[in-house]
Amino acid sequence: MQRSRTSCHEDFRIFAGSANPALAAAIARTLNVDLGGAVIDRFPDGEVAVQLTETVRRKHVLIVQSTAPAVNDHLVELVFADACRRAAAERITAVVPYFGYARADKRHGRREPITARVVADVLQTVGIAHVVTMDLHTPQIEGFFHAPVDTLTAVPILCDALRDRLPSDVVVVSPDRGRVSLATSYAQCLGAEVVVMHKRRDDATHTQVTHMVGEVSGRACLIVDDMISTGGTMAHSVNTLLARGARPEMYVAATHGLLVSDACARLDTPAVRAIFVTDTIEMSDQNCAKLQVVSIAGLVASALQRFLEDGSTMAG
Ligand code: R5P
Repeated sequence: MQRSRTSCHEDFRIFAGSANPALAAAIARTLNVDLGGAVIDRFPDGEVAVQLTETVRRKHVLIVQSTAPAVNDHLVELVFADACRRAAAERITAVVPYFGYARADKRHGRREPITARVVADVLQTVGIAHVVTMDLHTPQIEGFFHAPVDTLTAVPILCDALRDRLPSDVVVVSPDRGRVSLATSYAQCLGAEVVVMHKRRDDATHTQVTHMVGEVSGRACLIVDDMISTGGTMAHSVNTLLARGARPEMYVAATHGLLVSDACARLDTPAVRAIFVTDTIEMSDQNCAKLQVVSIAGLVASALQRFLEDGSTMAG
């Protein structure tokens, strides 16, 4: 049976968690709908309080919520799906542009949990039947879900933003072997060469580069990653590239700009010319002169539009 665009729009409601209401509002605006009514709050003891303030009976509910810092609170806010399920929503999709705990996708040492798997279980337990996310840390996280997971990528829009800023001799640098595929996507998009650093992890927060594949001598560098958290990986990569003779003209790009623990200050060195991230994570109170934030709202809205019309989330 064919569904018209209008009937499809009447059938869905889009709600915002508190992680990034500006992004949710921008996505809703692009889809030409208002955000659904909900109260997202905290009880005096810190527990999460959520309540629907409109009916969702037989509707397709989309909840936009990055599980960004404060990660645990934002994750628990997704119990909103349970409220929707109990209010007889027909289908619940979580739009999770940044998927927290994605780095806990395997056991790094003995007696550790695989928290990303636990998060997948929690999301499905509260009734989420579909997840739309962006540049997952590792694609195999999709396999932690029985529900379908659509992973979008911000690489093309970041490349569009970067293209005019980069010198013609730039090389794209993967800061570790886990990002080779991401760096290759950037390099293809920009028509540049790829350089790969091999990183050894000493513990959860300390790494060191042991060797490098590719030539950086005299070249400008674009270092790419899925996320910048403390900025340690990027800062360390910048220093290593400079020590190996790269030109002090570095650009840094990542889909998810967590930017915690003075990341901006750590990257505020003369060699770093610009830091490009997207708005999967809300940028509040960031005092970061070199930061360029590219919005993914249009990209997510287009994917959701196709998805709501029962098409593929991918363009083309
Ligand atoms: C690690 O595997 C990730 O891809 C990022 O490189 C890392 O999480 C970035 O964290 P930070 O900015 O704290 O070094």
